[in-house]
Amino acid sequence: MPKEEPFPLPHELYPENWFRRLERDEIFSGEGPIELDLGCGDGSFLARMGNELSDVHFLGVERLLGRVRKVNRKAARDHLENVRILRGDSNYAVNWLLPKNCFRRIHFLCPDPWPKKKHARRRQMCQLHFLRALHSLLEGDGELLFKTDAPKYHEEAVEKQNECDFFSEEPWEDDSFFYPKTDFEEQWLAEGRTIHRLRLRKV
Ligand SMILES: C[S@@+](CC[C@H](N)C(=O)[O-])C[C@H]1O[C@@H](n2cnc3c(N)ncnc32)[C@H](O)[C@@H]1O
Repeated sequence: MPKEEPFPLPHELYPENWFRRLERDEIFSGEGPIELDLGCGDGSFLARMGNELSDVHFLGVERLLGRVRKVNRKAARDHLENVRILRGDSNYAVNWLLPKNCFRRIHFLCPDPWPKKKHARRRQMCQLHFLRALHSLLEGDGELLFKTDAPKYHEEAVEKQNECDFFSEEPWEDDSFFYPKTDFEEQWLAEGRTIHRLRLRKV
């Protein structure tokens, strides 16, 4: 028999009301910036960030239950009170659930690239309404960090960014700040793929 997991999981953010935006202190109480990891997968990035930056809070959003459970296990294993996980759709979360002007950084790392032309609309970084929604969640000079192994996705995201007057591109040199690799990034690098990145600041 598989072990029964508690519900909600100890590190899970399970809103009482899914039909209004949360307040900041419903996500994390107390001082300190909050960062958001959209499509956080198994949560290795979250756990590494949570361990390294203990005065920062990290919220992951992930739709797959198995991955949500893994995030929870990593946070519990390392006693990371600064890491929480929301199970749900990131589009819904950013448009309807998460508080505005709340997050210092949003990490959107190695999302599904949707390479087929007929799926182009699913590439969220190329959708103006998605970028606007992320912009509204960020604090005054907050940042959006994006990585992909798909050159076309990166190229289109840069093009879309050039159409926006509400983000400005920032340099992102190797090792210029603590930024661990994600599980997918490590896997893709091991396969010889190149990772492309984009760092945007709210203006
Ligand atoms: C390619 S994986 C990358 C995971 C992680 N960011 C990494 O780099 O290791 C994409 C993740 O996003 C999740 N995902 C895709 N679309 C999503 C959505 N609309 N809402 C929430 N999670 C989503 C997938 O379940 C998957 O875990």
